[in-house]
Amino acid sequence: MYADLFLTLLFSVLLCKEATCATNQTFPNYFKFGVATASYQVEGAWNEDGKGENIWDHLCHTNPDFVDDRSNGDIACDSYHKYKDDVAMLKDLGVDFYRFSLSWSRLIPLGLAGSPVNQAGIDYYKNLIQELVNNNIEPLVTIFHWDLPETLQEYGGFPNPESEEHFAYYARVVFENFGDSVKYWLTFNEPLQTCHEGYGIGFTAPGYKSSGLAEYKCTHTLIKAHARAYHVYDEEFRTQQQGYVGIAPDTYWYEPASGSVSDQEAAERALQFTYGWFANPIFNGNYPSVMIERIDERSKLQGFASSRLPKFTDEEVEYIKGTHDFLAINAYSTLYVQAKEEEVDTAVISYDSDLNVDTFFDDSWEESASSWLRVVPWGMRKLLNWLSKTYNHPEIFITENGVSDTGGLNDDRRINYYREYLSNVLEAILDDGVNVTRYTAWSLMDNFEWARGYTEKYGLYSVNFDDPGRPRTSKASASYYSSVISSKCLVD
Ligand code: NOJ
Repeated sequence: MYADLFLTLLFSVLLCKEATCATNQTFPNYFKFGVATASYQVEGAWNEDGKGENIWDHLCHTNPDFVDDRSNGDIACDSYHKYKDDVAMLKDLGVDFYRFSLSWSRLIPLGLAGSPVNQAGIDYYKNLIQELVNNNIEPLVTIFHWDLPETLQEYGGFPNPESEEHFAYYARVVFENFGDSVKYWLTFNEPLQTCHEGYGIGFTAPGYKSSGLAEYKCTHTLIKAHARAYHVYDEEFRTQQQGYVGIAPDTYWYEPASGSVSDQEAAERALQFTYGWFANPIFNGNYPSVMIERIDERSKLQGFASSRLPKFTDEEVEYIKGTHDFLAINAYSTLYVQAKEEEVDTAVISYDSDLNVDTFFDDSWEESASSWLRVVPWGMRKLLNWLSKTYNHPEIFITENGVSDTGGLNDDRRINYYREYLSNVLEAILDDGVNVTRYTAWSLMDNFEWARGYTEKYGLYSVNFDDPGRPRTSKASASYYSSVISSKCLVD
C-alpha cells in the first residue's frame, strides 16, 4: 500500500513538474550548465609547494595601490587547500561541468620552454580533476587566465614573439598530464583584456600603457600561440584523448545608437575590433578586413613605415584558420554605439582612435557593482545571433556570464539577472536556431576581482575573506541556479 502511495506521489510530482514547465521554458536535453573560476582569483597559496611568481603576484606586491582595496590573491578563497569544499559546492549546485584555470607558474615556475615542471602543481590539479570526476562533474579547463609567469614578463610578455614557444611547451605539459580526464580546453580567457588592458591601457597586469602598439603585437603572438597549442593537440594528443579545443574571447553586444548607416557600421566595427580581432583569424582567416584597412591607413598617415597591426603570412593564415572545435564567448552586457567624426589625429596613436566610436549605456539600464556592467538581457540574444551568423553557425559555449553586487546572501538581483539572461539564451536556441550547448555562470564564489580586489562580488556562494578558514555560504542565487539545472526549466 505504501508503495502504491509512493508511486502516486511520485507520478503527481512528475506531472506537476511537466505541467509547470512550458516547452518554451525548457532547455534541450543535451544542454549543459556549469560555473567558472580562475586560478589567481581563487587558489591563493601564491608561493607554496614550488609555485613561481606570476604577474599578478608581482603587481599586487610591488604596487598595492593598483588594487582598489589594496588586497591581493595571496590567499584568495584558498582553493589550493579547500578544493574539496569547492567540489562539494559544485555537487550541491548540480552542475554538469566546472570551468577552472591552471596556474602556469604553479606548473612551470619559470614559464620558459624547457624549464622544470613542478610536480606539486601537477599533483594539485590531478587531485582536483579526480575529485570532479569522482563526483561526476566534467572539467572544462582554461590553460591561461591572465596569470603569466613573472619571468616571461621580464622577457616582454605576450608582445614578445618568443612567448608562442613558451606557451606551446606549457600546453604540451598540460595535455600530457591532464588530457586523459580533461576533454574540453580553452587556450586563452578574454585575450582582449590580456592584450588591450594589460599592455594597451594598463588596467590589468602587467599594467603597461602603450596604446596602439604593444597590444597589437601581443594579440599577434597570442593568436599564433593559440594555433600552436591547437596543432600540438591535433598532432600529438587528439587521437588518443579525443577532446576539444577552443578559445574564449569576450565582447559586449554593441547596439547601433540609431538606424543610420554610420552608427550601424560603427557597431559592427566595434564587434570586429573586440570579438573579431581573435575569432576572425581563427574562424575565417586573418584579421577582420576593417581592422587591416583602418590601421594600415592610419599608420601610414602617422608616418609609420608599416602598419601598426602586424601581418600574418599566407602560411600563418592557413595555419591559424580552423583552429577551433567550438566557439566560446564571455559576455555580460551591452553598449550603444555612435559613429564619431572620421578624422585622423596623427598625434593620437591608440586602439580606441583606430576603432573610433562613442559608446554609452542607456540610463534606464540597471546598474551592477561594476562600472562596466549594466543589465541588458536582450543584448545576449542579439549577440548569440550575430556570432552564429558571422562564424557560420558553430556550436557555441557561453563560457562566462554573470553580475556583480557588493555582497549579501539575498541576492535577488543576481537571480533576476540569471533568469532574464537565460531566457534570452533560450529564445536564441528555440526561436532563432542558434546552437548554444553550454552556459557558464561567473562565478562559483566571490573571489579576487582583479583591480577591484574583493569589493565586487560575483559569486553564487559568498566567502568570508576576514576569516582565515575562508568559509563559504550559499546565496539565494545558488539555490535558484541549482533548481534551473535540476529541472532544465527556466523556473521563476
Ligand atoms: C571576466 C574575467 O574572465 C573574469 O576573470 C572576471 O572576474 C569576470 N569577467 C568579471 O569581471
